[in-house]
Amino acid sequence: MTSIRKTIAVLPGDGIGPQVTRAAVRLLEDCAEAHGHKFEFSEFPFGGAAIDACGAPLPKDTLTGCRAADAILLGAIGGPKWDSLPLAERPESGLLGLRKALDLYINLRPIRVRHALHGISPLKLDRVSDCDFEIVRELAGDIYFGAHEFHDENSRARDVADYSSAEVERVARYAFQRAAARSGRLASIDKANVLATSNLWRKTVTAISREFPEITVEHLYVDNAAMQIILRPNQFDVVVTSNLFGDILSDEAAALTGSISLIPSMSCRAGEGPALYEPIHGSAPTLAGKDVASPLGAILSAAMMLRESFALATEARWIESAVDRVLDHGYRTMDIAEPGCRILRGSEFADKIRGEVQDMLVCAERYGWGV
Ligand code: IPM
Ligand code: MN
Repeated sequence: MTSIRKTIAVLPGDGIGPQVTRAAVRLLEDCAEAHGHKFEFSEFPFGGAAIDACGAPLPKDTLTGCRAADAILLGAIGGPKWDSLPLAERPESGLLGLRKALDLYINLRPIRVRHALHGISPLKLDRVSDCDFEIVRELAGDIYFGAHEFHDENSRARDVADYSSAEVERVARYAFQRAAARSGRLASIDKANVLATSNLWRKTVTAISREFPEITVEHLYVDNAAMQIILRPNQFDVVVTSNLFGDILSDEAAALTGSISLIPSMSCRAGEGPALYEPIHGSAPTLAGKDVASPLGAILSAAMMLRESFALATEARWIESAVDRVLDHGYRTMDIAEPGCRILRGSEFADKIRGEVQDMLVCAERYGWGV
C-alpha cells in the first residue's frame, strides 16, 4: 500500500455548504486514517460568508490557499442575503473569479442513476435504468466571461458570448479522451444554426475529431439535446458543451437521477494545478442550519477527488460502495425520501456512510482483502 500526503483547501461557503463539506471532510479523514495517507485540510472563507467576513467573495488569502493546495473542496455559495448586490460583488462572482484565476476550463459532471434510487427518478424505470453518462462542460469562457453591461440607465442590458477556437479545442480534446476511456461515443451540443460561437464550436470539434478516428461524434442542437435527455438519456455516454448550455443541461440531467443533491463535479485544467470538487447543487438557504440536506453530492465529490486528483481509485470505490450500501439499506435524507424508507438527518446519514466504510475496513483486515 502506497501512502500519500496531500493538502486540501476547504471552502465551505454558504447555506448548506458548511454542513455538506463537513461530512465530506470527515470521510476523507477516515479514508486517510484507514489507508495510511496524510491529508492536511485548510479552511478559507468564500462566497457570501467571505463578503460578510472580509468584504469580498474571493479574498486574496483564499485564492492563495487554493493555488497552494493539491485539491479544493467547495460546498456551495449564494443566498438571498446577497441577492441585491451588483453582479460583480455577489458570491457567484467569487466562484467565477476562482474558476478563471485557476483557469479551470473543464467541468466534469457524472450523471448516474443509482440502483437504489430508481424509484425517485421522474422517468419510468425502462428509460433510466442504464443511465450513466458524463457531461463535460466548458467552464472558463462563453457568455459567462464576456462583458455584462447595463445601458441607457438600465433599460437595456447586454451579455457577450465569446469563444476562441483554442478554448474550444482544449476542452474538446479532454472530452474525446474521456470518450476514448469509455464507450467511444461523444455527443457535442451547440446551437450552430443560430450562434457564431456555436458555429465555431462545431467546426472546432469536427477538426479535433480527426485526431480521434476511433471516436464516434454526433452533433446535436441544444434544444433537441434538452429533449433527448428526457426521451432517451441512455443514448448518451460523454457529452461536451459550452459553459451556459452545460450549466442548464446538467441541472436537467441531474433531475433524472432523482435529485440534484446527488451529483458531484470536478473542475480542472487537464491534470495541471489543483482541481476543484463541488456538488452541483446550490446553497439551499431554506435548508441551512437544519441538518436535513443530503451530503451525497459533497461526499461523492470527495470520492471523485480521490480518484481524479490523487489516483486513489480503490479508496474512491470504497466511499461510493458505502453510499450504495446505505441507500440499499433504505436510509434516505428528506430530499431523496420515498415511501418505506427511513429518513435520517444529514449528519446521521453521513455517519451511516462512515460506518459502512469502517465495516468494510474491518472485513478487509479480517479476511485479508486488498485495502
Ligand atoms: C454551477 C452554478 C454556478 C454556474 C453559479 C453559482 C455561478 O450554477 O456551478 O452550475 O452558473 O456555473
Ligand atoms: Mn448551475
